[in-house]
Amino acid sequence: MRQQLLSEGASELSYEIREIVKKAEQIKKLGKEIFWENIGDPIQKHHALPDWVRQIVADLSMQNDSYSYCPSKGILETRAFLANQTNSLNGVRITAEDICLFNGLGDAIAKVYQYITPTSRVIGPSPAYSTHSSAEAAHASHEPLTYKLDPDNKWYPDLDDLYNKVKYNPNIVGILIINPDNPTGMVYPLETLQRIVALAREFKLFLICDEIYINITYNGARAYALAEVIEDVPGISMKGISKELPWPGARCGWMEYYNRGKDEDFNRFCQALDNAKMIEVCSTKLPQLAIPKILGDPRFKTYREATNQKIGKRSKIIADILHTVPQLTFNETFGAFYNTIIFRKGILKPIQKMKIDHPGIRSLVEGWVLEDMPLDKRFVYYLLGAKGVCVVPISSFCSELHGFRVTLLEEDEDTLVKTFTAIRDGIVEYLAS
Ligand SMILES: Cc1ncc(COP(=O)(O)O)c(C=O)c1O
Repeated sequence: MRQQLLSEGASELSYEIREIVKKAEQIKKLGKEIFWENIGDPIQKHHALPDWVRQIVADLSMQNDSYSYCPSKGILETRAFLANQTNSLNGVRITAEDICLFNGLGDAIAKVYQYITPTSRVIGPSPAYSTHSSAEAAHASHEPLTYKLDPDNKWYPDLDDLYNKVKYNPNIVGILIINPDNPTGMVYPLETLQRIVALAREFKLFLICDEIYINITYNGARAYALAEVIEDVPGISMKGISKELPWPGARCGWMEYYNRGKDEDFNRFCQALDNAKMIEVCSTKLPQLAIPKILGDPRFKTYREATNQKIGKRSKIIADILHTVPQLTFNETFGAFYNTIIFRKGILKPIQKMKIDHPGIRSLVEGWVLEDMPLDKRFVYYLLGAKGVCVVPISSFCSELHGFRVTLLEEDEDTLVKTFTAIRDGIVEYLAS
């Protein structure tokens, strides 16, 4: 090429949650059954939407109007409905104009970092959900800036670490919070959120809060929304229907801008995000039409509560199976549908193995494990080859810790127990080898 074609930031783009699938598919081809614990797609894990939900979508699909473009920021009635939901929390107040719909929250995440000055940074949690950390790092052409989530303190943010990093890095303009969190499944206490808001106020930062799991809590937990705690600080809440409806294939998510009027720089940033959507014309329309009809239906609350209860039950089953393994740091989860399980420091070694009977699979796995690879990735490859369980190494979530992420989505209880017993047996064998 006449000039360098690829931007420096492109090397920051990776998504192990799907990369691992390529490896699992190779093993599957050799005849091994795979238990997919890598991706947070409830539908792929056989969650069935209620008939009334599907009927609403079916009816909409029969209306000719559903097939046209819609306004760039999204259908007005839908934005008004969503603004109303947020206002009913009795915190920050917004109007339909403060909401912009995107093609899935992934699209919104890609855009939110793209229009920040390259030298200005948003600090995010570690372990990190890689869609955020990759997009933020790509915008800066630099590795992600992170604050620690502490596995020895229920995975809550290490607020001293966050404070110091913000204080001593003047390039930081924003803080990302994911609540409830992916990949840890943790729900943050009110006080933690209030302290982050105070920090943002002190250093004149804005907040991004990914709340795609805000309505997925269980076993007594309650998630506080950014709208409830943000007061006068500028911020963006990111929400969507991929997880809570759940309809991940709809590709529909949105941003809610809070306190635009409080800071002109922030206001212009929000305007740029709206403009970015405008040059694309608009986002997918049919799910937008469905949102008020489904989320506004009195049956939705009951359905969501029942679904959350099932996730909560799975959380307990997984805890029963794994929390007794002494070499692990295990935290019971209270929100979203993941758990991140950590190997205690120094436990993993580059010589450990699991028995793989099938010679073809064994030679595949032995070919994948490289000397200098993160030790949790090595474990994950052996678990895949030996037990057919596909999890994601936590070193792929911008973390120095070694562990793996699982989902809480298996609908069939026998399969759930079988999968997590296989994980436990695999760990015990691997560590003893
Ligand atoms: C925290 C978080 N944010 C955003 C997304 C992306 O959601 P969407 O399907 O709306 O692109 C996910 C998907 O797993 C997620 O876990």
